[in-house]
Amino acid sequence: MKCNVKNICCIGAGYVGGPTMSVIADNCPDIDVNVVDINENRINSWNDNDINNLPIYEPGLKEIINRCRGKNLFFSTKVEEKISMADLIFISVNTPTKKKGIGAGEASDLRYVEACARDVAKYSKGNTIVVEKSTLPVKTAEVIKNILEASQLNIQKNEQKNFSVLSNPEFLAEGSAINDLENPDRVLIGGEDKDAILALSDIYSKWVPKNKILHTNIWSSELAKLTANAFLAQRISSINSIGALCEATGADVREVARAIGSDSRIGSKFLDSGPGFGGSCFKKDILNLVYLSKYFGLPEVAKFWESVVNLNNWNQSRISKLVVKKLFGTISGKNLCILGFAFKANTNDTRESAAIKICKDLIDEGAILHIHDPKVDIDQIEIDLCMKPINKEFVSNESNNKNREGGWYFSKSIYEACDGTDAVIVLTEWEIYSEIDWLKVARKMRSPSWVFDTRSIIRKEKIKDSRIYFWRVGDGYNN
Ligand code: NAD
Ligand code: UGA
Repeated sequence: MKCNVKNICCIGAGYVGGPTMSVIADNCPDIDVNVVDINENRINSWNDNDINNLPIYEPGLKEIINRCRGKNLFFSTKVEEKISMADLIFISVNTPTKKKGIGAGEASDLRYVEACARDVAKYSKGNTIVVEKSTLPVKTAEVIKNILEASQLNIQKNEQKNFSVLSNPEFLAEGSAINDLENPDRVLIGGEDKDAILALSDIYSKWVPKNKILHTNIWSSELAKLTANAFLAQRISSINSIGALCEATGADVREVARAIGSDSRIGSKFLDSGPGFGGSCFKKDILNLVYLSKYFGLPEVAKFWESVVNLNNWNQSRISKLVVKKLFGTISGKNLCILGFAFKANTNDTRESAAIKICKDLIDEGAILHIHDPKVDIDQIEIDLCMKPINKEFVSNESNNKNREGGWYFSKSIYEACDGTDAVIVLTEWEIYSEIDWLKVARKMRSPSWVFDTRSIIRKEKIKDSRIYFWRVGDGYNN
């Protein structure tokens, strides 16, 4: 399908749709880029006059939005209109794990993707290139093609629409999305229609070197995305398993990671031991791979990948258990400070954050958590913990906590969050946490006091003089 793309529509204004389309608009001033979503609040936030109110936080995003919004980048809820104007449509909607029915807990819920395909079938005009940007199970392109083709069955030949379906998975990581999009390791395009592939490649080639734009068949492209996430997550579970072994044996996981990472066959990235991987995709995509493996009659393959998720679940729960153990076996009524709630630094995203499970476990044990995060807001934490915050003034009076069954409140300041606590638990690697004045913190805490660093961001020398007991993930000197 020959096409000189002048108008793009992206369905889904989320963590992928928003930043990806912003970077395309920034690099292709001749193309109009419309990002549409059914979530009106989200679109309103993208259009907010105050640039600090964008729905997602990503370093570098504000600047691009300032440059392009209203010029060749538009956010709206006008799904029908913007689809009808587009030569090329990205499907960038969420693909969560199914909660019910066949494949529940593993397979992807494709209802949003299917709804997009039906909208495209209905509202598009003439020739349209349809691009899978969402992460999808292998063979989803067939579903999209079927829906699009079926829509043309009873239509006269001269009025028929033409579609070409491509796969173009996204590899950006949150927190570094803009840099990842501007300088990608590769752009992957899967498909058969050479002209459509050329049209999409032309867009990326405005800023991506041609040798980094890879072409594969459509199934390889779909499967490569799941495989990339599975391999990355597998490295984290591997290093976390070794971290626990380091703690038991006197080894240090940072030293082990440096030693193995300098082997060029292994490489040094994704070897940071932590509280367990979070984020909206790793778990979902591996479970999807598990489901596909079972579906195609490969139970051993399914078991192998399932173990990556199992190890991660175990790792998250071991953190809360060891906090309880170090604090004399009980944290009931004790105040604990939680530093970081996002699933990683430089994002406001909390989806599948290790902090959610760890905080819930600590609250279940009766602790009162003082939670701080520089970008996550209090309403999001309430949703994630399924619990309203408690009144800070009320809990400041120790006698009120004797029979309390656990709870939390939000602190805007790190030092205020440490006030009256027995332990500080660092769960996200925000840079500001590596600059804390521990002598100042020690004066605010109750003795004996503890710091648990699950992200290895606190330098031991910085805490040494404070007399705070220090536990660090994967550190055999803890014992
Ligand atoms: P998200 O939940 O942030 O955004 C998806 C958006 O799609 C939502 O705003 C939702 O309202 C909208 N939507 C759903 N159905 C719609 C419809 N029929 N019409 C219009 N809008 C609709 O999700 P996300 O994090 O942007 O992820 C999107 C996809 O990209 C997923 O498949 C994910 O696996 C993949 N992905 C995500 C990341 C990431 O870092 N978040 C990175 C690479 C790939
Ligand atoms: C990940 C992949 O890195 C992206 O390539 C992919 O596009 C994306 O998933 C997706 O498909 O959604 P993301 O989840 O945004 O990106 O962030 P990562 O940097 O991969 O971190 C994921 C989790 O692993 C975080 O909780 C992080 O703290 C943890 N992590 C990461 C570690 O514990 N150790 C590490 O060494 C690296």
